[in-house]
Amino acid sequence: MQRNQPQDAQALYDPRAASYDDSWHPRFARHMVELASLKAGEHVLDLACGTGLVAYPASAAVRPGGSVTGVDISSGMLKEAEGKRAANELSAVRFYQHSITDLDGLPGLEGKQFDAIICASALVLLQDPSNAIRQWTGFLKPSGRLIVDVTDPASQISLITFERVGRALGRHLPFYRVPFQKPEDLRALMEQAGLRDIEVISLSQMDIEGADALDAYRSERPRIEKTYSIADADRLFDKHIDHWAASALAGPDIRNEARRLFREQWTKLANADGLIEEVDGVYVGIGWKNK
Ligand SMILES: C[S@@+](CC[C@H](N)C(=O)[O-])C[C@H]1O[C@@H](n2cnc3c(N)ncnc32)[C@H](O)[C@@H]1O
Repeated sequence: MQRNQPQDAQALYDPRAASYDDSWHPRFARHMVELASLKAGEHVLDLACGTGLVAYPASAAVRPGGSVTGVDISSGMLKEAEGKRAANELSAVRFYQHSITDLDGLPGLEGKQFDAIICASALVLLQDPSNAIRQWTGFLKPSGRLIVDVTDPASQISLITFERVGRALGRHLPFYRVPFQKPEDLRALMEQAGLRDIEVISLSQMDIEGADALDAYRSERPRIEKTYSIADADRLFDKHIDHWAASALAGPDIRNEARRLFREQWTKLANADGLIEEVDGVYVGIGWKNK
C-alpha cells in the first residue's frame, strides 16, 4: 500500500510537540551530540531535528564559527524548536520544514556539505532507510561523519508487534523497525552508503535513576526493562491500537483480524517459560566518509 511517510510523521508529531520534551529524549539527544565529538567551527546538519534537542547542544559545541542546520517535517515540532531560540542561540542555527528523505529538493541545502550529520530517534520512522542514508552521505564533506540510531527490535515490543501485524495485512504503520534485528544490520546499511570505519555501540534509552552521563548508558547487551506474559496481548492491543495504529488497523473492517494476528505474533515472542522480555536499547552507528 502506498503511504506518504512525511505526512504520517507530521500527523504523529504535531500533536505531541508541546509535551515532547517531557521524556528521555533531551538526555538521549545530548548523548548523540556527545558521540559526534563536535569541534569549534564545524557545520552540522541535524536531520529530523524535532524540538531542537540536538540542534542547540550542537550549536554550543561548534562555537565559535560553526553552524547548525535543522530539518524536520512537523511544523508543531519546529515551532517548539524556534521557541527556544532566544534562550539558546550560541552559534548560527537555522531550521527548515522539509522531508529528510528529499534533501535534494531543499533549496537551502543546495551545494552545501557538512562536517557532521546527526539523525536522532528518527531513522526507524522512514520507509527506506537505506536510500535515506545514501542520500545523506552526499551532504557530508570528505572525512565527515554520520551519527544515527535505531531501536533494538526487542524494545517497545508492542509497537513492533503492531508493525508485524500491519505488514501481514498490507497496512503499514508509521515506523519501520523490523529491518534492524541486530547491530550488524545498521552497520551494513552504513557500509552500503559508502561510509567507513563504522562503529556501532549499544546504549540504554530510558532514563536510569541518578544517571546522566553518557558512560552510564553504554551497555554490552541491552538490559531487560519489563517482562510480560502471553495473556498480556489483549491488554496491550487495546492500550495502543487507537493511538499508534489508528488509521491502519483500528477500523471496524480490520480490527478483529488485527487483534487475532497481534495475539499470534505476541505469542511467538514468548520464551520457553511463556515470558516475553522487553529490553531497553538502541544501536548508535558512527560512520565516516572517505577523504
Ligand atoms: C522521535 S522525534 C526525534 C526528534 C529529535 N531528533 C530528537 O532527538 O529529539 C522524530 C522526528 O522525526 C521527524 N520526521 C519523521 N519523518 C520525517 C521526514 N520524512 N522528514 C522530516 N522529519 C521527519 C518527526 O517530525 C519528528 O520530529
